[in-house]
Amino acid sequence: MRPNDCLTGEELTPDQLHELLERAAWLKRDPHSSNVLHRRTVALIFQRHSTRTRVSFEAGIVELGGHPMVLRTEDTQLARGESIRDTAYVLSRNVAAIGIRTGPDELVRELAEHATVPVINMLTAAHHPCQAFADLLTLRETFGELEGLKLAYVGDGNNVARSLAIIGALAGVRVSVAAPDGYQLEPVAGAELTWDPYEAVRDANAVYTDVWVSMNDSPETAQARRDALAPYQLSDELLAAAAPGAIALHCLPAHPGEEISEAVLYGERQRIWDQAENRRHAQKALLELLCG
Ligand code: CP
Ligand code: NVA
Repeated sequence: MRPNDCLTGEELTPDQLHELLERAAWLKRDPHSSNVLHRRTVALIFQRHSTRTRVSFEAGIVELGGHPMVLRTEDTQLARGESIRDTAYVLSRNVAAIGIRTGPDELVRELAEHATVPVINMLTAAHHPCQAFADLLTLRETFGELEGLKLAYVGDGNNVARSLAIIGALAGVRVSVAAPDGYQLEPVAGAELTWDPYEAVRDANAVYTDVWVSMNDSPETAQARRDALAPYQLSDELLAAAAPGAIALHCLPAHPGEEISEAVLYGERQRIWDQAENRRHAQKALLELLCG
């Protein structure tokens, strides 16, 4: 049975995830081979900033034969107090699927509860599943098989870390998260949690990091976060402690000199720009799965 929505990625079975990545790889080779959204519209609600998510969803939906309808919250009646429930009813009468980028996960759950079309989480405070799909596609391109790989995430235990832990586990990837006290994930999906970045990267095939201050974090906490997370920079030295041939990953946007060194960001071992491109291919496969 195909999933109704993609709010966390846990809606997919391991087989569906495997199939999604297969399809994504196929669509990357032949981007115009699917017309699954022919003459259909997908609404994309943005309550937070975006470059990659907006660009990759818009371009991907066009490649699938559909029309991406970008809705900035401030232009809609949501900004004037119309409920999520009523918005879900109205959008469901007009579009094939709804993507949403916002803060509260409850809001996305409420949207999905009332919508009769698939709802896709394009980033919330707690989850970023579309990013993790693209990251697994990137690992698959680099290493072939995913089963048995180890991915180390170093830095803030945030939405990206959580989605990697959950969706990585579904794919058979060992995920190890290194974060200081107060910034670590809750125990999730069998991920290994440690405060020690060198322990996390030992034998890792990929070392991943993300910003230290996320869009849903209060700006007042920024300096405290930078101070606490400073020992967790993804540097050449840390990468050298991972498995031979390990790659460096980052979901972007990056702050070189903070969570990642400039040398790693633009270095030979990164696959970061592939990740950014793979958002489009993975999301197209997700739209096929949900709307096909
Ligand atoms: N990685 C990612 O989601 O980037 P944007 O915030 O630019 O969409
Ligand atoms: N953790 C970051 C990811 C940006 C793509 C944020 O939520 O802002």
